Amino acid sequence: MEKKSLTHQSMYIDKELIKKYNQPGPRYTSYPPANHFTESFTSEDYIALLKASNHQEPDSISLYIHIPFCPQICYFCGCNTSLMRSRQQLRRYINALKREIRLVATHLDLSRPLTQVHWGGGTPNSLPFHYIGEVMDLIRELFRLSKNPEIAMECSPAYLGLKDVVSLAGMGFNRMSLGVQDRNPELLKKLNRRPQKYPLEDLYRTARKSGFEGVNFDFVYGLPGQTLEDHLASIRQALEIAPERIVTFSYAHVPWFKEHQKKLEVYRLPDANEKLTMLESAFELITQNGYMPIGMDHYAKPDDELAQALRNKNLHRNFQGYTTREKTGQVYAFGATGISQLSGGYSQNTRSLDAYMDSLEKDELPVLRGYRLSENEKVRRRVLNEIMCNHYLDFDAVARDFNLDADRVREIVEYDPDKLEEFARDGLVEHSAEKVAVTPRGFFLIRNIAMKFDPLMSQHPKGYSKTI
Ligand SMILES: C[S@@+](CC[C@H](N)C(=O)[O-])C[C@H]1O[C@@H](n2cnc3c(N)ncnc32)[C@H](O)[C@@H]1O
Ligand code: SF4
Repeated sequence: MEKKSLTHQSMYIDKELIKKYNQPGPRYTSYPPANHFTESFTSEDYIALLKASNHQEPDSISLYIHIPFCPQICYFCGCNTSLMRSRQQLRRYINALKREIRLVATHLDLSRPLTQVHWGGGTPNSLPFHYIGEVMDLIRELFRLSKNPEIAMECSPAYLGLKDVVSLAGMGFNRMSLGVQDRNPELLKKLNRRPQKYPLEDLYRTARKSGFEGVNFDFVYGLPGQTLEDHLASIRQALEIAPERIVTFSYAHVPWFKEHQKKLEVYRLPDANEKLTMLESAFELITQNGYMPIGMDHYAKPDDELAQALRNKNLHRNFQGYTTREKTGQVYAFGATGISQLSGGYSQNTRSLDAYMDSLEKDELPVLRGYRLSENEKVRRRVLNEIMCNHYLDFDAVARDFNLDADRVREIVEYDPDKLEEFARDGLVEHSAEKVAVTPRGFFLIRNIAMKFDPLMSQHPKGYSKTI
């Protein structure tokens, strides 16, 4: 693969500027962010959104299946999961999931193409596989799969055998995300995480041989007790295997929300400066080995569809990660805590497993909260997507898609060139009345730049994590 010079990294990372702008802000995985969802949103509101989604763009369907179980809870984990239940309870959960899929499907135009199915968790691969097969069979029975749908699963390598990889391929899965986190077995032990069952290289080769089009490796940096060398050794090992994508998440320490993280407070938590060094060194290593940075934490080989979509300025993002405009459908989510992301708004399922299963056993949708977007908010969401994913905003292009004129779009996002002046002086953006382009130097400050196009930030600026 092509090697990049060191100047490439310094084009992207200016530690002083990152420190200057490292303010709390939303991650913009949804717009408005999930803390704006309201509990006055009911299952009737969700049904209205479902029905409206049949006539809105994009016309394709994405499904998200949430499996909130793991055989063991890692102390660093920030995901929506819980300890694996008995076989009987799992059976009940899978039945509820299937009921939810059938129930939602009654409100949908099923002639629309299904372009994406994503299984997340938790650890979906720790389920008995016949449950996964049952749900996939139901999806095939109800929906019309497009020619080349993306069918992906988030897997923990601790519970993944080589035969499991082949079975998943047999069920139609063609993308897999492997949670590596860190390769140091001593650190994994402190984190209460089991190491992988098989060498990562064997898992990767088996996946590619059995039909997976791409494999992603997840890492976390800034973990309690983790050193820079731990992180870089983990990345070096991945680079030898050369998966199609690599993700390096910044560790989110939220013990008020995830009590188990308190157990890690006996170890040293790397400070902001050390985390920045980890980010910078890993960035250098990964990009020098020919990967393209996709967003703040994603990297892909240059011929990967995400890298191509970024070049063609048609990259998108949802709660499941980055995706191309072709694959993005309206996302219908199933399972406890799942969030549906539709053209007209968002609906989140209840967090309580028992309440989730009880509702579905009564054929009621288990809605916890949600949000209906106004027409102006749809425009803001699109503008924020352009900035966050494509690092480029063309007011005319957005205006055309919404049948508006560009001045109206500028008004809706309360665009004021003065708000961008300091960023422009620091070389983070280049802007004119028509277009805004984020430079490589603005790459890691993208959330700060996006906030300038979000009128909500002046109303509710608090309660977010720092951008790095
Ligand atoms: C839902 S988990 C699923 C992966 C699978 N259960 C596993 O652990 O391998 C998705 C990813 O979230 C990341 N993650 C989990 N807790 C995190 C935290 N507190 N901060 C940052 N990233 C985290 C990990 O990299 C993990 O692979
Ligand atoms: S990191 Fe993965 S395996 Fe560990 S508790 Fe979280 S979801 Fe489960």
